[in-house]
Amino acid sequence: MLNPKYMIEQWIKSKLPRSLFGRAMLILAVPIVVIQIVVAAFFAERLFRDVSEQMSSNVSLDVNHIVSQINDAPDRIAAISEITNHARPLNVNVSLPIEFSQTRDTWEWFDLSGKYVVDALRLSLPNLVYVDLKSDRKLVRLGIKSSKGPIQMSFARTRASATNPHQLLVAMILTSVLFTGISVLFLNNQIRPIKRLSDAAEAFGRGWSIPFHPRGAREVRSAGHSFLSMRARIIRQIDQRTMMLSGVSHDLRTPLTRMKLSLELLEPSEEVQHLERDVDEMEAMLTEFLEFARGDSGEKTETVGVKALIKRIIRNYARANEPVELVFNGITAGEETIKCRERAIQRAIENLIGNAIRYGEKARITVSLDPKHVDFTVEDAGPGIPKDKRNDALEPFTRLDEARNQNKGSGSGLGLAIAADVARSHGGKLELFHSQDLGGLKAILSIPR
Ligand SMILES: Nc1ncnc2c1ncn2[C@@H]1O[C@H](COP(=O)(O)OP(=O)(O)OP(=O)(O)O)[C@@H](O)[C@H]1O
Ligand SMILES: [Mg+2]
Repeated sequence: MLNPKYMIEQWIKSKLPRSLFGRAMLILAVPIVVIQIVVAAFFAERLFRDVSEQMSSNVSLDVNHIVSQINDAPDRIAAISEITNHARPLNVNVSLPIEFSQTRDTWEWFDLSGKYVVDALRLSLPNLVYVDLKSDRKLVRLGIKSSKGPIQMSFARTRASATNPHQLLVAMILTSVLFTGISVLFLNNQIRPIKRLSDAAEAFGRGWSIPFHPRGAREVRSAGHSFLSMRARIIRQIDQRTMMLSGVSHDLRTPLTRMKLSLELLEPSEEVQHLERDVDEMEAMLTEFLEFARGDSGEKTETVGVKALIKRIIRNYARANEPVELVFNGITAGEETIKCRERAIQRAIENLIGNAIRYGEKARITVSLDPKHVDFTVEDAGPGIPKDKRNDALEPFTRLDEARNQNKGSGSGLGLAIAADVARSHGGKLELFHSQDLGGLKAILSIPR
């Protein structure tokens, strides 16, 4: 059972922005929004309610006065003249219609103080029939019952509520949008150097050295400088390794060639044959050392057709009478391409196929493509590699127990290390599994497109 707390955490995490910019914006925006809500809800709302209620009950004093004058008048005609006497000076417009134009209170949904006005008027005007704030937003219209029939009144809205209560909200939102905009600009400038550093580090992981100058805040700049010195040190070490290995290989070749010549001069015998084979093997190993030391740094990245590449490799094996089964997965009729260093990728695949042929009778390569990756999967029907030895097998100069290698010739233990190196330098990976289908090793070389 999954822990619910863990699931909620995962859900929240999945909803949060992943980029530094998104997170920084969130940290910036959440407090602003919360402050606005708090101010709007607790301060502005209360203020507008109190002010509107006070103003409305004030104006209802005037209204009550006019209504009582009309009630006290002896008849309708007298009431109308009372209106002229009392309503005009109070700036209230009064009429005595035959019947009310409406019977319900109305106001617009965005009229924030509308409800408070209506509530306050209802509280202090006993015979109120309706309040209309909708038909003219600048006026308050009322209907009131009196002894002389219906009365309709209207007066300026400014007398009943604080003007434009939403102005504060609008000002608050506008200023926060403005300042958030400004902080986006500043934030971008802070994040750009981090992005550049991450790009440079990623490129270096793939074996490219792109130009990079540390910039930005002190911490970011110091991380940038550390990266630069680390990169320089690694490059120097790789150069030294290359130089040393190629020096050794080269120097050893000369005495080997001399040995070969001397062997040819000897009487042919079984001993001599053995020696010749050993010398050949040593020569092959030296070539392999050289290749490993050189790496794939010299080669250019090119657009390579996957089908053409793999078919060429297979053809080479077929010619050597070592058939390899080929399966295409998700490849359409057209030629699919990847950007890679072709010879390096070819060497990696050949190392995997070479192992499959050497250690397990039957070899099969499956090529799978999706929009982001291409996977070269090499499987065989050999003994495979136990789970706990797979990481070791990927290390340079490791050969696993000799029993499995009997009569299979001894390699130098570099094949898988080279293939893994090639994968890494392309931003991909090499992983070893058990092959369900063939029963032996399943090596997946995954390269991003
Ligand atoms: N397909 C496989 N099946 C079983 N064991 C394997 C397979 N591939 C590799 N191994 C084991 O992993 C070890 C390392 O392989 P790796 O290719 O790195 O070196 P190698 O084949 O010994 O030498 P090289 O490839 O340099 O000639 C091998 O010695 C072998 O024991
Ligand atoms: Mg090998």
